Amino acid sequence: MKLDGVVALVTGSNRGIGMAFVERLIARGAKKIYVAARDASTLSSLVSANPGVILPLTLDITDQDQVTSAARQAEDVTLLINNAGANSNTALIAIDGLDNARREMETNYFGTLSMCRAFAPVLKNNGGGTIVNVLSILSLVNLPASGSYSVSKAAAYSMNQGIRAELSSQKTKVIGVMPGAVDTDMAKAFEGPKEKPLDVADAALQAVEDALEDVYPGEMARAVSQGLAENAKVVEREFSAYIPG
Ligand SMILES: NC(=O)c1ccc[n+]([C@@H]2O[C@H](COP(=O)([O-])OP(=O)(O)OC[C@H]3O[C@@H](n4cnc5c(N)ncnc54)[C@H](OP(=O)(O)O)[C@@H]3O)[C@@H](O)[C@H]2O)c1
Repeated sequence: MKLDGVVALVTGSNRGIGMAFVERLIARGAKKIYVAARDASTLSSLVSANPGVILPLTLDITDQDQVTSAARQAEDVTLLINNAGANSNTALIAIDGLDNARREMETNYFGTLSMCRAFAPVLKNNGGGTIVNVLSILSLVNLPASGSYSVSKAAAYSMNQGIRAELSSQKTKVIGVMPGAVDTDMAKAFEGPKEKPLDVADAALQAVEDALEDVYPGEMARAVSQGLAENAKVVEREFSAYIPG
């Protein structure tokens, strides 16, 4: 798919990797970008800097009515970027209650699935198009300090495979993006090296143009992915050192 002239929708586009996607889509010649956020007032500077190209949408991906309404308003979309995500940085056992785990599942799995379901007919009507799901390297190995987030991203990884298979007959490409740590609010407590959000957006958008299925942006993601291919148990043991507390 060519990005020049594309009509895209980016969820969670008010900050972090989502905002980087918007910047890079503009640079690559997107015709129209629906920028979606839970609070549309957080999008005002993006909209005023790019009049005519950027259209704001109020969208909480866990709200089925808002998801349905977004698909009705953005019926010309050919590239759907499911970027919105939540990470409570909490453990599976050493945490009071399941509220964080449920919120992560509702956002990272059910919310992303709702978006794919709502936009599948839109993409079909527009010739097939592409879905980019922003997952995580933690889709593939559990980090105990973010144990419940890792579980939700693993569910989304499996969802990505299933949706790819289901939508192949309507010629919709489905791409999974598995970054390591990225320098955004979500990873502010992480002290190691972090990828730049713009580099993650670049890698994902290049995959759209090159019709790749799985993207591992950055050194950390590539090293973990390679380690998993060589010996998944070794990687699991390395990650098991990062326990909560
Ligand atoms: N940062 C990392 O190290 C890292 C690594 C791998 C993967 N990722 C993934 O990259 C994606 C973007 O994260 P980020 O790093 O840019 O984090 P971020 O700066 O915390 O941004 C998260 C974005 O998701 C939005 N969001 C959260 N829940 C939502 C909901 N229910 N409906 C709609 N929007 C919602 C937030 O909106 P509000 O402003 O309203 O909260 C915000 O725009 C996520 O899927 C994340 O899991 C991040």
